[in-house]
Amino acid sequence: MYHFNDWEVIVTGGTRGIGAAVSKAFLKADARVTAVYGGNETAAAAFKDAFHDDRLEIKKLDVSDYEAVEQFFAEYDQTHDNLRVLVNCAGIRRDAIVGMMSQAEWQQVIDVNLSGSFHMSKFATQLMLSMRFGRIINITSPSGKMGFPGQANYAASKAGQVALTKSLSKEVARRGITVNCVSPGFIATDFIAELEPALTQAYKAQVPMKRFGKPEEVAQAVLFLASDAAAYITGSVLEVTGGL
Ligand SMILES: NC(=O)c1ccc[n+]([C@@H]2O[C@H](COP(=O)([O-])OP(=O)(O)OC[C@H]3O[C@@H](n4cnc5c(N)ncnc54)[C@H](OP(=O)(O)O)[C@@H]3O)[C@@H](O)[C@H]2O)c1
Repeated sequence: MYHFNDWEVIVTGGTRGIGAAVSKAFLKADARVTAVYGGNETAAAAFKDAFHDDRLEIKKLDVSDYEAVEQFFAEYDQTHDNLRVLVNCAGIRRDAIVGMMSQAEWQQVIDVNLSGSFHMSKFATQLMLSMRFGRIINITSPSGKMGFPGQANYAASKAGQVALTKSLSKEVARRGITVNCVSPGFIATDFIAELEPALTQAYKAQVPMKRFGKPEEVAQAVLFLASDAAAYITGSVLEVTGGL
């Protein structure tokens, strides 16, 4: 449906879950994809092997590490000249109620989900500015708007991504770069796989459509925001939640 002929796309968290579906959808639409992963080598290798496609490269990178991200982009710039799309999908949960949350649980989630989006966006924007074109899409969560018990760190990081999106969108709007969020509801990935069955049922009951979403359904929203059809949309949050 969409065509991104030889557009270069970076997807963080791009070898598993929602990010993997996003990478796959861009490849299917003829883009060239760099799928970034954090440390799960097995999943990354399996993802790469499933494609046999030289338009897909995988890259291990801790998005929470500023210097590593700077180095990644310095190398990326040597070998790529057409970065059009950045999708910040890397994310983690370390759930605990505030009274029991360790400082490390707080900090890790902020570092990966929020600071990681800042690090990647900063250097991607520098490349996109010279081309006067770009699409940055941050994967946030309804948790950032509603709050969920046990997710103060996660909700804060996800609300922060929305604020980052809105501010950055205003900085770069005149230079042909749009910055938006996609906010998925409950999506069936490893991310929520280990929830207790009773909690899974309770969450499902909250969703008006009475089912969890599929990663592919989120990917389609990302591709829409990257496409020409969304050229006048910036600073917005597109919800893919089954009505949550
Ligand atoms: N699933 C849901 O219900 C849901 C709902 C709303 C929002 N979201 C958001 O959607 C995004 C993707 O979630 P998902 O369900 O696809 O999760 P997932 O299946 O657990 O995948 C998470 C991805 O993030 C990568 N990652 C984690 N820490 C990283 C780091 N420090 N540097 C680089 N990459 C890192 C992982 O890499 P490895 O494979 O190497 O571990 C993995 O590829 C997250 O931002 C999440 O907050 C998910």
